[in-house]
Amino acid sequence: MKHNIPIKRVEKSKVEELDFNNIPLGRTFTDHMFICDYENGQWNNPRVEPLHLIPTHPAAMALHYGQAIFEGMKATVDSEGIPMLFRPQKNAKRLNLSADRMGMPHFPEDLFVEGLKQLVAVEQSWIPPQEGSALYLRPFMYADEPFIGMRAATSFKFIIIASPSGPFFTKRIKLYAETKYIRAAEGGTGEAKAAGNYAAAIRPTELAKAKGYDQVLWLDAAEHKYIQEVGTMNIFFKIDGKFITPKRDGAILDGITRMSVIDLLRDKGYEVIERPITIDEISEASKKGTLEESFGTGTAVGIAYIQEIGFGDETIHVSDESPVGLDVNETLNGIKTGKIKDTFNWMVKIEKELA
Ligand SMILES: Cc1ncc(COP(=O)(O)O)c(C=O)c1O
Repeated sequence: MKHNIPIKRVEKSKVEELDFNNIPLGRTFTDHMFICDYENGQWNNPRVEPLHLIPTHPAAMALHYGQAIFEGMKATVDSEGIPMLFRPQKNAKRLNLSADRMGMPHFPEDLFVEGLKQLVAVEQSWIPPQEGSALYLRPFMYADEPFIGMRAATSFKFIIIASPSGPFFTKRIKLYAETKYIRAAEGGTGEAKAAGNYAAAIRPTELAKAKGYDQVLWLDAAEHKYIQEVGTMNIFFKIDGKFITPKRDGAILDGITRMSVIDLLRDKGYEVIERPITIDEISEASKKGTLEESFGTGTAVGIAYIQEIGFGDETIHVSDESPVGLDVNETLNGIKTGKIKDTFNWMVKIEKELA
């Protein structure tokens, strides 16, 4: 279905002020935003307009009860400068899965993708062309109804903002296997991309960083034994030639990079097993010398190579090199920049008429 998305443009773009070789992380925003309002049981008035502050009532329910969810994805350009999105329908579906868990309304999937396309078409001069760089897109939904009381809100905003980003984590990273705090428990909100999940992770991440680690490796809530995921990434291990990644169990995020990396690894001839995996198993494999490599996967970072994991008093050495991780990252970046044929049909090009 085609939606009518009116566009109100800024008089003068700020893009000339951006140094594309030195992009401050998460601090630069493009000129426009996509916005849509939910009232009386339906989404109304989708539009692209100059980025602006949003008036917030002090009783807006998202501020008190946390009905707030988000997505994260990237737009890149191919060698001819045509802007493209990576699997945006998957983000549209995942937003609605998060909405279900948090008692929020679905956002129409076709409007989600069209809103993204329209915003990216308007902002295409902001897409950094360098490999590994991209225009990060942040769709989000929150309850803006002013009401004090515990129930689902009746009015919401859905907004997409965009922020150019340079390459992430270039160094190998160190993880801290967390045995006190947890991210998600069975029946909780772990599979939703809910703002509160991230709020609860901030303090443990600060503590891990103070100990010299880059990110937290989350373990299961009941036994602190089974590996879940890392910060804003899913995780893969290569043991004895085979890849293992924690099975989806409702507590981990269904990462779009994760599902794509599983396909790429299988396409390259590797066996990939999705199953529960314990931190003790990783420690044993490291001692036996069968732990060959490990990496995290996520939209922000692409692939982050893991060097070691701190677990109690132990330092689990993973590896100093990640040949398969590097190869998969190159393939992913190649597909995202049109240098490698997109045999999986993942990329969604932005039509010329929108631009
Ligand atoms: C908690 C968490 N796990 C995993 C991921 C990776 O998901 P994706 O590959 O869709 O970016 C993210 C990032 O969105 C995340 O926030």
